[in-house]
Amino acid sequence: MTAVSPTDILAAAKLLGGGRAVAMTGAGVSTASGLPDFRSSGGFWAGVDPMKVASRTAFERTPEAFYAFYRRRIDTLDRAAPNPAHVALAALERAGLLDGVITQNVDGLHQAAGSAHVIELHGNLREALCVGCGTVRPIAAIRDALASGTLPRCDSCGALLKPHIVLFEEMLPQGAWAAATSLARASRVMLVAGSSLQVTPASWLPQDTLDAGGQVIVVNQEPTPYDRRAAVTLRGPAEQILPAIAAAAAAAATAAAATRVEEGTGSPQNIDHRPTT
Ligand code: APR
Repeated sequence: MTAVSPTDILAAAKLLGGGRAVAMTGAGVSTASGLPDFRSSGGFWAGVDPMKVASRTAFERTPEAFYAFYRRRIDTLDRAAPNPAHVALAALERAGLLDGVITQNVDGLHQAAGSAHVIELHGNLREALCVGCGTVRPIAAIRDALASGTLPRCDSCGALLKPHIVLFEEMLPQGAWAAATSLARASRVMLVAGSSLQVTPASWLPQDTLDAGGQVIVVNQEPTPYDRRAAVTLRGPAEQILPAIAAAAAAAATAAAATRVEEGTGSPQNIDHRPTT
């Protein structure tokens, strides 16, 4: 891990130790699971115009090109498992130090790692949605149709099935957006990990936390527009930095609880001994 000082890890852990924190994640937390991000040099958008393969217009006008692109994503996801970045965020939530994860990812890996409160801003790739009648089915309906060389269609009405994700030109799910903004505003700390923070409206959420008097921690390989506004910026791999922060936060919480016991202000029953990573 380069350019990350133990002091910065401790500073981030200390901020999280106060509770009322939320994480916001992007594709960078899943690259260690073998899923490319979008805007890095080897990312999905390298040499690809997203409007031609991932917009609502592309889906409607050229579904073959749309699915030629999405088939690769759906198949890759099938083999992906959570990595230590997902596991660390789930551990922070179990330890009571994170109230939830707001994610731009559609891969479901936070839930697979054990995060209980996940807000999916851009939908999910576990399900297929009929654009005609709104029926929702497992993503296998799309995978199986593509494997047999046909476009996926709804059993009930015959319209095309779309991955249950938010395409360019589409609105975010209203409930998810409302939940995300209210959590961002209610949080003392927002831990942003693995996002270029270039895509609105998700990229507005750290500002919501700052505007409400909170602080932001950024964990990312490359610079982001929030680095100068962040209380702590950690440049490097999320799959190494987040476990280090989670371990430091757990150690600090245990030490604080032990101090309370020694001072007679707490009881041994109040110490949380559950593993955090
Ligand atoms: N650890 C930390 N950061 C990483 C890692 C890693 N292992 N791997 C990549 N990154 C960083 C990259 O440097 C990049 O800045 O993660 C960031 C990912 O940014 P994007 O590719 O822009 O992904 P994201 O921010 O999630 O994109 C938002 O854009 O087109 C879309 O809908 C798609 O949800 C996505 C949205």
